[in-house]
Amino acid sequence: MRLYHAPASPFVRKVMVLLHEARATDRVTLVPASGNPLDPGTLPVDRNPLGKIPALERPDGPTLYDSRVITRYLDDLLHGGLYPAAPRLWDTLVIEATGDGIAEAAVLMRYETHLRPEASRSPAWAEAQWQKIARALTALEERWMSHLSGPLDMGQIAVGCALGYLDFRHAERDWRAVHPALAAWFGAVEARPAMRATAPDA
Ligand code: BEZ
Repeated sequence: MRLYHAPASPFVRKVMVLLHEARATDRVTLVPASGNPLDPGTLPVDRNPLGKIPALERPDGPTLYDSRVITRYLDDLLHGGLYPAAPRLWDTLVIEATGDGIAEAAVLMRYETHLRPEASRSPAWAEAQWQKIARALTALEERWMSHLSGPLDMGQIAVGCALGYLDFRHAERDWRAVHPALAAWFGAVEARPAMRATAPDA
């Protein structure tokens, strides 16, 4: 299988963490891909018309995207156990969607400051993205700490990758100052070998 990959993407990182946790990194060949909405560059637009990564080419069917489809597929293929049975599954999926939403808003903020010409940037729009993130962090802390502290699942991995991206691209927002319980939880998660092996560093 071929995985279109960029180490800075929190969505690619979810897939990589799953592969490390399942000790299955040898099952995929990484294909470097870079680009953005203004310039698709080497993003696999012929494989994913949305031009987004991760995208997973597999031998027995069409290319898979987005990250949630890929992680469901790989978890099934590798018997990873990262999606529990219902009814716990519904909580896992909501937490995964919350983590992905945080990452999506954080990437849009990054695009705003690094892609959009200075004259057409909107601080109010960027702040609205941050408010979305802040509400999601509060919801995780108020509602989901018990689930997050349970057996490892894809919800936890998604939230871990989202928080890692906040540290990577938006460290000045200091999310830990407002969310100490989440910060303590993330301290343990980011120490996992799978998280350390996939930490963005550029
Ligand atoms: C980034 O450099 O922040 C980034 C790269 C790929 C996907 C998303 C974000």
